[in-house]
Amino acid sequence: MGIKSRNITAVPHRVKVQERWRVNNHKGGVLWFTGLSGSGKTTLAFELEKILFSEGYHAYVLDGDNIRQGLSSDLGFNHEDRTENIRRIGEVAALFTGAGTIVLSAFISPYRSDRSLARKAVGESFHEIYLSANLGICEARDTKGLYKKAHNGEIPNFTGVSAPYECPTSPDLTIDTENLSIEDSTTFLMHYIKRVFKM
Ligand SMILES: Nc1ncnc2c1ncn2[C@@H]1O[C@H](COP(=O)(O)OP(=O)(O)OP(=O)(O)O)[C@@H](O)[C@H]1O
Ligand SMILES: [Mg+2]
Repeated sequence: MGIKSRNITAVPHRVKVQERWRVNNHKGGVLWFTGLSGSGKTTLAFELEKILFSEGYHAYVLDGDNIRQGLSSDLGFNHEDRTENIRRIGEVAALFTGAGTIVLSAFISPYRSDRSLARKAVGESFHEIYLSANLGICEARDTKGLYKKAHNGEIPNFTGVSAPYECPTSPDLTIDTENLSIEDSTTFLMHYIKRVFKM
C-alpha cells in the first residue's frame, strides 16, 4: 500500500537497534508462524514466550484471535480483509523488531504474497516457520470446534474448508506438529531462537 499523506518526514531514532540488542543481550526479530487452524501456532507461541521470558529474553506474542479484538476488529475473513490484517501485523512486527523484541506471531496467514509483504516490512530478521500438520489432523483436533461449524456452513471463508491455504515454498524452518510433541517442538524452536537471535 502506498503512503497517502504527502507532508510527512520520517524521524530516525536516536537509540540504535544495535544498542537495544546490547542491553537485551540478544537480537530482535520475528518468528512468523504459519499453518492451518489447529496446527499449533498459538500453543507454541505462548509456550515459547513463557520460556523466553523466564530466561531473560524480551519476547512478545502477536496472536490472531487477540489482534482481531483490537487492531483488526474492523476486519473479516474475505481475501481483502485477510490481506489487510496481515499487512497491519507485518508493520507491527516491524515496529517491535525495531524496539529489539523477539516477536512470535501466530496467524494462519494463508496467502504467500501477504507473508512475503510481512517479510519485506520486517527485513532480514524475519523467519517464516511453517507448522506442518495436515488438514485431517487439524480437523480431528478441532480445538475450537471451528472445523465442525465450517463444514456445517456456519463459517464462510474458513481456511482448508472453503478458503485456500498456500504452503510456504521455502520456509526458514518447518516443524512437523503432526508427529512431534509440544515439548519436542518447543525444544527445537528454542535451539533455533538461541542461534538466530544470538549477539
Ligand atoms: N507439536 C505440537 N505443537 C503444537 N500443538 C500441538 C502439537 N501437538 C499437538 N498439538 C495440539 O494441537 C492443537 C493446536 O491448537 P492451536 O490453538 O495452538 O492452533 P492454532 O494454529 O493457533 O489454530 P488457530 O489458527 O485456529 O488459532 C492444540 O490442541 C495442541 O495441544
Ligand atoms: Mg491460534
